Amino acid sequence: MNAQSPLKERALAALSAAMPTDLLLTDAEALERYSRDWSGDHYGRPLAVARPRSTEELSYFMACCHELGMHVVPQGGLTGLVGAAVASFPEGEVVVSLERMNKVRSVNPIDFAMVVEAGCILEDAKRHAEAADCILPITFGAQGSCRIGGNVSTNAGGFNVLRYGMTRDLVLGLEVVLADGRIWNGLRTLRKDNRGYDLKQLFIGAEGTLGIVAAAALKVFPKPEQVETALVGLESVEAAMQLYARARRQCSDLLTAFELILRGGIEIAINAREDLNDPLSQSYPVYVLIEASAAGRVDLKALLEGFFADASDLVLDGVIASSKAQGERLWLLREMMVEAQGRGGRYLRTDVSVSISSIAAFVSETLAALADKYPEAIAVTYGHVGDGNIHLNIVPPEDMPAEEYDSLFHATEEVIFDVVDRHGGSISAEHGIGKIKQAAFLKRADPLTLELARRIKDAFDPEHLLSEGRILASAQGKAGG
Ligand code: LAC
Ligand code: ZN
Repeated sequence: MNAQSPLKERALAALSAAMPTDLLLTDAEALERYSRDWSGDHYGRPLAVARPRSTEELSYFMACCHELGMHVVPQGGLTGLVGAAVASFPEGEVVVSLERMNKVRSVNPIDFAMVVEAGCILEDAKRHAEAADCILPITFGAQGSCRIGGNVSTNAGGFNVLRYGMTRDLVLGLEVVLADGRIWNGLRTLRKDNRGYDLKQLFIGAEGTLGIVAAAALKVFPKPEQVETALVGLESVEAAMQLYARARRQCSDLLTAFELILRGGIEIAINAREDLNDPLSQSYPVYVLIEASAAGRVDLKALLEGFFADASDLVLDGVIASSKAQGERLWLLREMMVEAQGRGGRYLRTDVSVSISSIAAFVSETLAALADKYPEAIAVTYGHVGDGNIHLNIVPPEDMPAEEYDSLFHATEEVIFDVVDRHGGSISAEHGIGKIKQAAFLKRADPLTLELARRIKDAFDPEHLLSEGRILASAQGKAGG
């Protein structure tokens, strides 16, 4: 990394000379700040960091890089989980951080649409929506750090996909700066627009490989006047899935989250914080965190109580939060579980999907295979089961030397992905491909899919200067690396 060729050195000097003061950072201390992602797993030192304040400045910067043949990688909040946003091109990359393009340009509660710049932190965008009595329903643990451009570029999922869809379902329009610096203006809030190819779709989930998202027009929704949160204990994943099937019918579209957590995950959470206790009077093999929300006239509490009363054959125990604070405490279990997994150091994250009807079989087959082959591995299983999306993570045993982690992670990932393949599932449900899922993705992708994907990359970034080597392998020769 960062073995700077004389050519790159000259290009960097030319780039610095072309940039207005304050746009490009090159001092070592600053570069360090943009070198590591949130997970701490990925490190890459950029050649320089550009911090444009506007789409025009971003466009100017990209045009200069294009002219000079500089490789560029966009960065948002660095909370991605597949290593896509840290510098990693062998000859060096310039990072472009969107952090100063962070304005909310508009919120329109009649159109139910907001326009937000790429560097706006998700939580700030959500706050602006709420000020207009609306919600922006992208919701997950990293929302206080991740940025809208990253949400769009990774097609972020999260807890509320069940009701509101992935980020893709929420994007009405985009403003994108292309690899050569031209600005593609697709920033519209129209609900219906069938004029030919829907080009914005290509940038969503493209992980910055086709263009840099500068701003997004997003759908917002009426802010629910009531939110109910419940946690229930069950005998098995099978029982949880039966409960889900009933909830879909009986709570209809009011269900906003249905999160599965196996007992091990609850234990990780309560052991991580003094003030977090076992949420129910005894322990159960499986838990489900359920959220429903509605406008004022619906008797949401009665609906949920009736639902749970009918489900007494499945639900062994449970609690419906009696206040907003208690609801937040229940969600804290979910958040702490994720945070605490990384406290002992590295662990393997997976993010797979199978059809909803296959979830129970997937979980039991995978856990059985892991227990059989790698009984020392600690499996932590949870997921957004209403989306068919499971995170089955592997935490190394405490006494395992760190140099053995990689082989454990590799071997257990193979076991998990084998079961995913048998069920016709996906090895990346919501986190993307980036660098770290690339080998597993390429191994499984059919040749025609890859050929079409390469042609799209060539069309948008013919010189292969933008986020090269993410999703698709680096085009040797073309990229010069
Ligand atoms: C979650 C993120 C990590 O579900 O996908 O917590
Ligand atoms: Zn998730």
